[in-house]
Amino acid sequence: MKWNFEGKNAFITGGASGIGKKIALDMASSGASVAILDMNEELGNKTVEELKKAGNGKAIFLKGSVSDKEGVEKLIDQAMVEIGDFDFVINCAGILRDFLVSRFNEKFWDLTLDVNLKGVVIVSQAFVTKWVNESRAKAKEKGEKYLPILENKPRVIVNIASLAAEGNAGQLAYAASKAGVVGVTLTMAKELARYNVRTHAVKPTLIATPILGKLLEREDGKFKDYYEGRIPFGIGKTSYVSDPVCFLCSEGGYFMNGTLIPINGGKMDGL
Ligand SMILES: NC(=O)c1ccc[n+]([C@@H]2O[C@H](COP(=O)([O-])OP(=O)(O)OC[C@H]3O[C@@H](n4cnc5c(N)ncnc54)[C@H](O)[C@@H]3O)[C@@H](O)[C@H]2O)c1
Repeated sequence: MKWNFEGKNAFITGGASGIGKKIALDMASSGASVAILDMNEELGNKTVEELKKAGNGKAIFLKGSVSDKEGVEKLIDQAMVEIGDFDFVINCAGILRDFLVSRFNEKFWDLTLDVNLKGVVIVSQAFVTKWVNESRAKAKEKGEKYLPILENKPRVIVNIASLAAEGNAGQLAYAASKAGVVGVTLTMAKELARYNVRTHAVKPTLIATPILGKLLEREDGKFKDYYEGRIPFGIGKTSYVSDPVCFLCSEGGYFMNGTLIPINGGKMDGL
């Protein structure tokens, strides 16, 4: 067991594939119960079977889109009935629709911002509203306006941003969505510390997952060679993102809030 998440519950969007799936597997095999919310039903059901084998906690799949506020709120209520209260919320669902500013595509812009940015806010606010209400109710019971910070249950939100947040040619909407995620992360970190909630973002470089589509196969592997040449330590694996995320959720990350961790493969100037 790499981490000790015994008795912890994790809610992971985009958990059916790629980075989210790896985080879900690492958390499940470290003792956590896991709910994954994803649009892809086939992969979601398959991943849940793997999660059940990986650990002895509960594992459930919730089919839905992070950009559907009403739907997300219902699915979170369902997950809380089936699993219980959540300690970790990992916002990992994301899409890639690339275009240059000179080829602005409004449909792709709206879709990317809806999923990658609004989706993070929709899922986070659904949990945060419950946590703030819980805190206020406990304070009221004690006849106080605010509950002392450490009397709130400790919780962690980790958002998967990207190094593209710093700007990347050809990724207008994606870069804007991930820069938005950074702003949202820092804002939540400032607002939520008083409720004992830590909020972080990680900013990976290129990681080999299905989101890249056929990018790495293009022109007989020339694209793969190009990206491998650009990133000193090469194209990343999903564990390079999962490990820092698990650390942030672990006891070792307890004293940290509002961190933005670049997972840059050794490259210091963006993607
Ligand atoms: N792979 C990379 O190079 C890379 C680099 C930096 C950041 N990221 C980010 O990491 C996250 C995970 O991406 P990945 O690389 O694992 O790709 P992936 O395609 O393997 O996983 C993304 C998952 O999100 C799900 N999803 C998409 N739209 C959704 C929606 N509206 N509601 C719910 N689920 C939805 C997909 O079904 C899929 O399972 C994304 O936010 C991505 O932007 C990836």
